[in-house]
Amino acid sequence: MMSAAPAPREIRDFVFTDADFRAIAEIAHREFGLNLQSAKKPLVASRLAKRLRGLGVQNVKAYLARLEDREELTALLSLLTTNVTHFFREQHHFTYLRERVLPPLLDHARRGGRVRLWSAGCSSGQEPYSIAMTVLGLYPNAADLDIRLLATDIDPVVVDRGRRGVYDREELAAIPREHHKYCMLNMRLGRQFRMADPVRRLVTFGVMNLVVDLPVKGPFDVIFCRNVAIYFDKATQQKVWASFGRVMGPSAHLFIGHSERISGSAASGMRSVGITIYEKAAGVQPRIG
Ligand SMILES: C[S@@+](CC[C@H](N)C(=O)[O-])C[C@H]1O[C@@H](n2cnc3c(N)ncnc32)[C@H](O)[C@@H]1O
Repeated sequence: MMSAAPAPREIRDFVFTDADFRAIAEIAHREFGLNLQSAKKPLVASRLAKRLRGLGVQNVKAYLARLEDREELTALLSLLTTNVTHFFREQHHFTYLRERVLPPLLDHARRGGRVRLWSAGCSSGQEPYSIAMTVLGLYPNAADLDIRLLATDIDPVVVDRGRRGVYDREELAAIPREHHKYCMLNMRLGRQFRMADPVRRLVTFGVMNLVVDLPVKGPFDVIFCRNVAIYFDKATQQKVWASFGRVMGPSAHLFIGHSERISGSAASGMRSVGITIYEKAAGVQPRIG
């Protein structure tokens, strides 16, 4: 993703003025709908200083010129957001998925129907693989049915990591024991494990920005979009929720992060069925707005 960086050079006394911060915040808002509050200035300054050092760029003004390049814009987004994630994050979502959402979807797939799930803002893959293991836990031959899971993120670096599907052994602790058979340890990987093929076969990774017109049509039966909208301003959040509403099939479910809420035009088309879990209300098409 990142342009080849020249050998790092020391940038002494990195200066990051309020005007510099506003310029970066303005670009992040215009390009990605990010909402950077001034309290984030020290964090942005330290991450940017590292990036500039890596690129050998001497000051923010020179860096702003680099942002003409979309690759650098993506690198900027990547340093302004966090990719923190883990397997089976918010266990109650996976319990609800296993007990309430998947059984009718698997029945549908066994009768030859199509089932589509989406992890939007999937980071390095722990979320989509947790969903896939939950599916396989109920139906080990799921890959033989028309069930597929799309996993997307705006950051190509984490998408590649997800595609590789290799994780530190410590992360096993978050994975329920019954799924450890899908985590392949071997000598070559040392202290790492690799997601097994039946899990990987269910998941397709791709790079996608959620803050543009979505290049997917669905319909999706399940969307996980957790701890992503938290970075967006309200208008952008509402735009993202509305676009999910448009690609969700009848009675589809949307799982969001613990500090996120559905608002705007999409809210009238979804009902809350659990903590941060929504179901598309039957017969209601969210207004486009
Ligand atoms: C904190 S991680 C959340 C990962 C996972 N969903 C979870 O809850 O564990 C947020 C992810 O959102 C991605 N992201 C931020 N803005 C995005 C955008 N406009 N479109 C798609 N992904 C975005 C980031 O790259 C990052 O990987």
